[in-house]
Amino acid sequence: MVHSSVSLVQEFLYPPDYQFNKKSLTQIKDLSEFDIAAILDHARKIASMNEAEQAHFKPLEGMTQINLFFENSTRTLASFELAGKRLGADVLNMAVGTSSVKKGETLIDTAVTLNAMKPDILVVRHQASGAADLLAQKVNCAVLNAGDGTHEHPTQALLDAFTIRQHFGKIARLTIAICGDILHSRVARSNIILLNAMGARVKIIAPKTLLPKHIEQLGCEVYTSLSEGLRDVDVVMALRLQTERMQGGFLPSVKEYYYYYGISHKTLELARPHAMVMHPGPANRGVEISSDLIDDTERSLVRKQVQNGVYMRQAILDLMTRYQSQEASPNNSIRHEVH
Ligand code: MLT
Repeated sequence: MVHSSVSLVQEFLYPPDYQFNKKSLTQIKDLSEFDIAAILDHARKIASMNEAEQAHFKPLEGMTQINLFFENSTRTLASFELAGKRLGADVLNMAVGTSSVKKGETLIDTAVTLNAMKPDILVVRHQASGAADLLAQKVNCAVLNAGDGTHEHPTQALLDAFTIRQHFGKIARLTIAICGDILHSRVARSNIILLNAMGARVKIIAPKTLLPKHIEQLGCEVYTSLSEGLRDVDVVMALRLQTERMQGGFLPSVKEYYYYYGISHKTLELARPHAMVMHPGPANRGVEISSDLIDDTERSLVRKQVQNGVYMRQAILDLMTRYQSQEASPNNSIRHEVH
């Protein structure tokens, strides 16, 4: 019966037991442990609602979500599009070709133009670190960072945390190794910050050339040897070699990289017996991870990550727009026109 499932949804999700109190989400650094736990809880409710196929939850009906992608993306863009549509938003995808972008100037121009169209939420991916923050300062609507340069990718870290908690029932006291191209990875940065906040032990494993300076200050142990780094590990996150961000010789060869740092069933034996592998995608099969390991659902959470990505993005879009609706009363002037 439609009526009963509508009320079930309302009972289930309202009144919100948590108030997200930020206009935009551009970095995990801005979230407290309490925020993260509450977002994970909200995503769990959204996930069970999706799985029970209750399609009546449309809190974004009448709202406009613009996905502004200056960098190529298939899965992240699709995930945000699906999440917005499932919640009832009008979703517009704007893929801005990288070749035509003259960084800062174009970004601001685009922001001003989009602002005039009065969207409710702007999901932005850009090749420059800090682009999402800059945009958030220039527009009136909520801004959600879908990856900015090598800075952060907050929704990826949140969906990864959700997937870990779903599988292990907890995050605190787990040991999680992030392995690969840490230097160019916004996913690594967001994950290190989030996992630390949630009480996990974080190790990073990479060749020296792919380690950012002072990375240990984010709260992680640094290893250059896979066998040492994987000891006592519950989760191994493999990262893509981001060759598009590499200028010059970071690695002798891809084959050598796989020999020393590739994650396979064999190297996974160095971790705990129940250890699981993750990858934010897109994966280079046979470069940072073996093809059969990615597809082995007994040892790989990669498919779960993709599925949970939509639930997590639904959760964040819902929480952010609830805050926005509250702030939007005519007498409230947190928004400023861009001239
Ligand atoms: C990202 O956008 O950072 C991806 O999810 C990971 C990658 O590109 O390797």
